[in-house]
Amino acid sequence: MSRIFDHIAPVYSVFDRFIPRPDVETSTSNSEKILDVGGGTGTILQRISDERPDTQVYLLDRSRPMLKHSDRSLHRVQGDASRIPFSDSSFDTILCIDALHHFVDKHRALKELVRVTEPGGSVVIIDLEPKSPLTKIICMVERLLGEPSYFLAPGSLVRFFSEHGWTSEIDGSDFHQFILTAKKSDSG
Ligand SMILES: C[S@@+](CC[C@H](N)C(=O)[O-])C[C@H]1O[C@@H](n2cnc3c(N)ncnc32)[C@H](O)[C@@H]1O
Repeated sequence: MSRIFDHIAPVYSVFDRFIPRPDVETSTSNSEKILDVGGGTGTILQRISDERPDTQVYLLDRSRPMLKHSDRSLHRVQGDASRIPFSDSSFDTILCIDALHHFVDKHRALKELVRVTEPGGSVVIIDLEPKSPLTKIICMVERLLGEPSYFLAPGSLVRFFSEHGWTSEIDGSDFHQFILTAKKSDSG
């Protein structure tokens, strides 16, 4: 199985600060306990943690080298998104940024995101819009590198969450990227 991120972790950790990322600080401003699934080198969590040191932030990634390049102040956990090593309802906010399309078992990973979110909590998924020509090129390159890249359409994610009784909205989308925020009901 490809472990491309194990190999590129040192390079990724240098360049990831230059990757333009949507503002998740605002959408997580009320969060107390956040899990970033496929969080890589932890750049986003680090930003949140710097702004609000009281927030508990957990970084989960399959790649040990990626985690090694994250800041030690984060709770770093090596693990697979399709078997998240936390009990049910552990977090009020889950982030999954530019990572879902890399997961081998996307459906199982989505079910895991649902499981570890507490009632009233939310999941924020940011990924590339599958219809964009840029996404198609990225997909081709990533597959050549051995990644299981497949981009789920935002509409199918909305359907998935609605089947679990969640509400969701797609926000800040442009032609290349979408931001989906899904909310679990207060009753779970
Ligand atoms: C493109 S990077 C994105 C990292 C980070 N979210 C960011 O925005 O910088 C994708 C990450 O997903 C991780 N990943 C891939 N498959 C995974 C899985 N099944 N479980 C957990 N992490 C996984 C990779 O190791 C990599 O760090």
